[in-house]
Amino acid sequence: MLQTRRSFFRTILGAGAAAGLPGFFAACSSSKAGTATAKSVPQFDLSSPITFPTGFFWSAATAAYQIEGAWKEDGKGESIWDRFAHTPGKIKTGETGDVACDSYHRWRDDIALLRAMNLNSYRFSISWPRIQPSGSGAANAKGLDYYSRIVDGLLEAHIRPFVTLYHWDLPQALENAGGWPNRDTAARYVDYVQIVVKALGDRVSDWILFNEPSVFAYQGYLEGSHAPGRTSLLDFLRATHVINLAQGEAFRALKAIRPASRVGTAFNMSACEPATDSEEDRLAAERAHAITNVWFVEPALRGRYPEAFTFLPETAMRIKSGDLEKTRAALDFIGINLYYRTIASAAGSFERAAHLQQWLFPVKMTGGQQGPKTDFGWEVWPKALYDTVTRITRDYHRPAIEITENGCSYADGPDTTGVSHDARRIDYHRAHLAALSQAIAEGADVRGYHAWSLMDNFEWAEGFSQRFGLAYTDFKTQQRTIKDSGRWYAKVAEESRVG
Ligand code: FCB
Repeated sequence: MLQTRRSFFRTILGAGAAAGLPGFFAACSSSKAGTATAKSVPQFDLSSPITFPTGFFWSAATAAYQIEGAWKEDGKGESIWDRFAHTPGKIKTGETGDVACDSYHRWRDDIALLRAMNLNSYRFSISWPRIQPSGSGAANAKGLDYYSRIVDGLLEAHIRPFVTLYHWDLPQALENAGGWPNRDTAARYVDYVQIVVKALGDRVSDWILFNEPSVFAYQGYLEGSHAPGRTSLLDFLRATHVINLAQGEAFRALKAIRPASRVGTAFNMSACEPATDSEEDRLAAERAHAITNVWFVEPALRGRYPEAFTFLPETAMRIKSGDLEKTRAALDFIGINLYYRTIASAAGSFERAAHLQQWLFPVKMTGGQQGPKTDFGWEVWPKALYDTVTRITRDYHRPAIEITENGCSYADGPDTTGVSHDARRIDYHRAHLAALSQAIAEGADVRGYHAWSLMDNFEWAEGFSQRFGLAYTDFKTQQRTIKDSGRWYAKVAEESRVG
């Protein structure tokens, strides 16, 4: 994803921008801590056991399109990801999520994995076209039944169902009607949310409205590397505003049905560090933070857009008077998905003058180069989690935070005895948990940690080539086998401490 999922700025900056940039919306902290001057990777104390607060949620996360398969079973409609993956050339490996981990039929195996890992929370998503095949109208009872069975199974196992309402699989019919840049999609989303909450809200109390809004807006509508594959700056800008409206309106609709629910969004974030001490680079890091981390937080919590661009393109974004009241939502928690940090520097005057997009957003972003890399090419930099959690805590008056995703891709698979020795994944999670615990010790109110992912699954445009699981998935037999990291994580969850 460093080259694909995370290359927003290569596109937004236009031709001539450096390659190998991190995602448009990775995280950004203005603090100098961890800037590229130090030669070694900053470490957090691992010399004594780290304990976590009572009631902490230990969890793993998945998403419908990445695991379910059954892409046209029991009345499910086509999603933009079905269409995209079936379009030659869109998925690197030529694979699709038609079968994925077959969780539509094997969800009991997934719950068995959660139990074996002693987890007390499970973050999974609902496929909108399974509920409303064409994005509007009556609910498909079989789709609702499927999720209802999972929720019952989780509750029986004493596992909190933590439900993502939208993890990127828009019904294709709504894309045909204009997709996320079309204001009407917000109203369709609210209808869908109401259907789901009426059906499951008696048993589910924790809801995530969107997964990584900046990623699906950017990669789907500007970069084109994800569904629906459009490449338009205007569509992208409009999509971000419609998603912000949808977030506010759906929040209110959900609370009207279930006032006691806890409702938030899983924002993709990254620590944004200035490349140098110069004023220009500091400003660039702030702009990167604004677009990457809080473009969907500020409209919700403060009724405004943060200062990312040289000016707010209100007309292009089709912001109407009164809209910034509608985007408001007093989110009950801030979900943070974090994978790496971002280094930001100011674009030069020639670049600004030469490219409209760079004039609007005069920032260059790259990934850090000091730490080791995962198989995806992402730098391992646990301090990014510390920096991001402490900044969000400081800037938003100590909100409740859920780490909704954190994880790494390594190909380590079973040896001749069937065991996957993925020591690097253990190191990754251990180091990130140490960083998180430091942030908690300094006052952050973190409620849970959701490792990405429960098992190896379909990694979007990368197909099955990137393995993020705590369990190994054999995609031929669909057998799931817990890796060393999953066993280690089971112990962490059982004792609520990292030894
Ligand atoms: C995140 C996505 C998730 C998964 C991980 C690796 O950006 O939310 O579905 O693909 O990256």
